[in-house]
Amino acid sequence: MRDIRNIVILTGAGISAESGLQTFRAADGLWEGHRVEDVATPEAYERNPALVHQFYDARRARLSEVVPNAAHVALARLDAEWRGDLLIVTQNVDDLHERAGAKRLLHMHGEVRKGWCLACDERFPWEGPMSPNRAHPEPVEGPSPRPQGPFDTLRVSSGGRSNLCPSCGTAGMVRPDIVWFGEMPYDMERIDAALMNARLFVSIGTSGAVYPAAGFVQTARYRGAETLEINLEPSQGSLYFDERRYGPASVEVPNWVDELLTS
Ligand code: OAD
Repeated sequence: MRDIRNIVILTGAGISAESGLQTFRAADGLWEGHRVEDVATPEAYERNPALVHQFYDARRARLSEVVPNAAHVALARLDAEWRGDLLIVTQNVDDLHERAGAKRLLHMHGEVRKGWCLACDERFPWEGPMSPNRAHPEPVEGPSPRPQGPFDTLRVSSGGRSNLCPSCGTAGMVRPDIVWFGEMPYDMERIDAALMNARLFVSIGTSGAVYPAAGFVQTARYRGAETLEINLEPSQGSLYFDERRYGPASVEVPNWVDELLTS
């Protein structure tokens, strides 16, 4: 594989499973306990922002209890040592790739440790709960809440005392910086450009159930890339892959990275 210079790696929830984060579609996965339509759409947020915040507050809190596993570490090593182009595109909203040290990384579905202010359109790091239902411990400086748009109820019920935007100071207008169903994933132009030039496309720990990510393998293949799937079981698009390796990511990914770096 020495001649392969350009690599695109797509990761999904399966790469973080052995760190202790639930996947979405497993029997005990997140979408078993929650309906997508209730927590992961813009409509759900308009209808019941408190429930949506609760869901992502729990995801954010869980991140401080987990650490990257051997698969994240191996990809970070590949990123550091690979002299050709390389792009890790993750569907995951956790931060385990960057905590392992990966640099050439895009979060196409957003990040749970970031907020997005619907008043000023800024995005920023966010720690702790975002839910406006929790009382803010400190008196808050800044503009008083002015009802505006579909999120009035949320902001007014916060009393202007929590869920404060660090950029414009508006209360109750910060949502998780997550790409919900029906919204456009981030960085699609960069991802498309990378796929066009990829010589190797690797999909790790994803069920292939959600587009556009599920279609990346076909784009890469069409452009002549070799394709490899690493997953616990065949994904929905497994037939599109030239090579398939099935087993836990913490074993399969380090093995593959070792092979690639020593070939
Ligand atoms: P899924 O839950 O759909 O799929 C996880 C995949 O990882 C499955 O195919 C598992 O077999 C596999 N897996 C589980 N444990 C593994 C392990 N230890 N090693 C290797 N593979 C393992 O999660 P995603 O494909 O990431 O989007 O889901 C894609 C998107 O659907 C998510 O980004 C999320 C979700 O709805 C949004 O919320 C917008």
